[in-house]
Amino acid sequence: MATEQLFEQAAAQWNLARLYEDLAKAKHELMPHKQYGLTDSEKTRLRGLLLGNSPAEIATQQIIETRTVEVALSQGLYRYVERLTGRDRNALENWRDVAEWLEIAGYRTTQVAINWDQMPDVAALYGRQVELDQLKQWLAGTCRFVSIIGPAGMGKTSLAITLAKAMQTQFDGVIWQSLRYQPALENVLGQWLSELPNDVIPHSDEWYDQLTALMTYLREHRCLVVIDNLESILTSGSLVGDYEPNHANYRELLKQLGEQPHQSCIVVTSRERNRELAGSRAANSPVRYLELGGLNYQDAAQILVAERLPDSGKPHWKRLITQYRGNPLMLRIVAMTIQELFDGDVYRFLDRGITMFGDIKYLIDQQYERLSDAEQEILCQLAAQAEPIPIEEVEHPRCLAAISALLGKSLIEKSAAGFTLIPVVMEYVRDHLP
Ligand SMILES: Nc1ncnc2c1ncn2[C@@H]1O[C@H](COP(=O)(O)OP(=O)(O)OP(=O)(O)O)[C@@H](O)[C@H]1O
Ligand SMILES: [Mg+2]
Repeated sequence: MATEQLFEQAAAQWNLARLYEDLAKAKHELMPHKQYGLTDSEKTRLRGLLLGNSPAEIATQQIIETRTVEVALSQGLYRYVERLTGRDRNALENWRDVAEWLEIAGYRTTQVAINWDQMPDVAALYGRQVELDQLKQWLAGTCRFVSIIGPAGMGKTSLAITLAKAMQTQFDGVIWQSLRYQPALENVLGQWLSELPNDVIPHSDEWYDQLTALMTYLREHRCLVVIDNLESILTSGSLVGDYEPNHANYRELLKQLGEQPHQSCIVVTSRERNRELAGSRAANSPVRYLELGGLNYQDAAQILVAERLPDSGKPHWKRLITQYRGNPLMLRIVAMTIQELFDGDVYRFLDRGITMFGDIKYLIDQQYERLSDAEQEILCQLAAQAEPIPIEEVEHPRCLAAISALLGKSLIEKSAAGFTLIPVVMEYVRDHLP
């Protein structure tokens, strides 16, 4: 690990940006001839001390002599801390004084964490580095609202959690909210506000007053808000992702989180996209979305290894992974089935020609039932043909909107020859055809 990244957890409890700045001023007053600002080493040692590490422990982590750290601290950081906290020169007798004095001086922050312990565990995340880097880069720039869109089991929640954990220390507050059980907005906002520090008191218990209070908070503090399973409060059968009638006020929440200026970061996961999540592809857009596709062969193969499929079947793994379009959950389910019913023999499973069964069928069921009539009708039309169909030949009055919605849900795919169903959906719809 690079030295600059050591002891980063200190950011969760200390206001590091303000400390670096104020200590830099103190340093400048003591040593005006030195270059302005703390050096990377000074910052690292400060974080180490704040986390309760002794100079000897810091030296071990930095892989240098303890004496070197001790000398550097007494010639530098200890003196800046005395100056900043109004102590006499050389008053500092113990390295523990640093954290104690800075805490008294008000540099310690307590991060508010709401529902953070309800976040599911992510056992292992294979691949997804490109997506993580992309999301981090967006959020570090002008973007304050990202959504991760993709079909069931593609790994949206796992990705959002990994992102949130990696970024968590940069925020004053962190909030996790699953919408799976369709909570009323009043209850959600009511709980958040009751757990945020006392200064956020809405004018009333009405959701719009709660929302105003929340937006004020998010403007003044830097929070990370993760909203999981947005599709749960979208109505089924809608081509544009409308909200369930009794959850229509969520639209205003998402709109304000995306459109109003604030210094917080919002991450939303959803199986379906709508206007509030749509954003723009422009580089400086405050609202952006990531369409989460399947894992590539290398990363998906790690799932099959983890599920203990024998190496002997490896020549057929590629076909299996392509069949399920790199969907991690489907691959886990299918690997378990192959293990259980086909003694781990991928070829025998593929030879059987059935890709859609049990829990995989259940996953598609969930998505199919939510489709509009237009989408279902078009799926049937496409399923009746073995070959891809160009858009001109799809006969339906709502063809454009429906095809676009189906593409957004990754149920169909596009090639130069036209549109076709992904294999599992093809099998599913053909089973459903009269
Ligand atoms: N990159 C990955 N590497 C390994 N396992 C993964 C990966 N992505 C997802 N999984 C596994 O696949 C399963 C589904 O992942 P997850 O719950 O994140 O999907 P989702 O897109 O949020 O699904 P849903 O739409 O149902 O909410 C989980 O068991 C998860 O551990
Ligand atoms: Mg999920």
